Amino acid sequence: MIKLYGVIGDPIVQSMSPIMQSQEFNELGIDAHYHPFHILDKDLQDAVKGMKAIGVEGFNVTSPHKTMIMPFLDYIDPLAKAIGAVNTVVRINDEFHGYNTDGMGYIKALQADWKEDFTNDKALIIGAGGASKAIFYTLLSRGMKNIDIANRSVDKANQLIVDCPFEGNSNAITLKEAEAKIGEYQLIIQTTSIGMYPNVSESPLSFENLHKDAFVSDIIYNPFETALLKEANEKGAKTQNGLGMFVYQGALAFEKWTGLTPDVSRMTDIVIKHLGGKTC
Ligand code: ATR
Repeated sequence: MIKLYGVIGDPIVQSMSPIMQSQEFNELGIDAHYHPFHILDKDLQDAVKGMKAIGVEGFNVTSPHKTMIMPFLDYIDPLAKAIGAVNTVVRINDEFHGYNTDGMGYIKALQADWKEDFTNDKALIIGAGGASKAIFYTLLSRGMKNIDIANRSVDKANQLIVDCPFEGNSNAITLKEAEAKIGEYQLIIQTTSIGMYPNVSESPLSFENLHKDAFVSDIIYNPFETALLKEANEKGAKTQNGLGMFVYQGALAFEKWTGLTPDVSRMTDIVIKHLGGKTC
């Protein structure tokens, strides 16, 4: 019988997950349908119950439901619990189990584009929202120690550090302080929406003092090259956009649902094609 999967969010039309996941189900010969569901906040609990009742095998969760869905699931994986957000739900023994593959998706993309082991490097995360938290906590849970967080409101960055259940050596700093000491970091991760289409000329900070050996990630992939990444490239640094993180979080979800390893480069190609064919 055909297996049902999907993604829930509000809005949902923009999601690239349906084309990306459907292609892999098809290519790997799995008889499945992956559907985008537009779910409003007020209907979230009913939607989860309904998905369980009709036999949905698994689904992705996107904005704004990643945190709100947690009380409606039967089990939450410890990392997802620490992050306070679920992006992947798997049916196991007729229970819905919640996971967070965003942070691991980021790490897999970083390993693919930069290097396998970066635990002894010093990192700066720009931003202190949900994406920042997923990346920060996952990096610490994987053994990285020195990660500072720069944010417009330093209090919010500090709260993230205080709430963190993983051991590390982190400071909350202002964006101005980050600009001044940017040369100290081997890895810089931009997690805010600053620079995203249509505000493509905006940047959270200046890279005047960026070290040319630094690696700079921006989790935005529309545009493929944000103003921040352009400046980093001009300084001679290596860069990556958010496409890899998106593809790997989806690949990890696919593995949890099926036990099979999807083809990440094929997934990347279809998303790039869908976004208009340009790459960073
Ligand atoms: P997400 O959950 O997608 O990561 P979010 O929770 O809305 O997004 O977080 C947005 C992040 O972008 C925050 O760090 C926010 O800074 P504040 O905590 O000070 O609000 C940051 N951000 C958004 N717009 C910004 C702007 N114009 N200038 C500086 N920081 C901005």
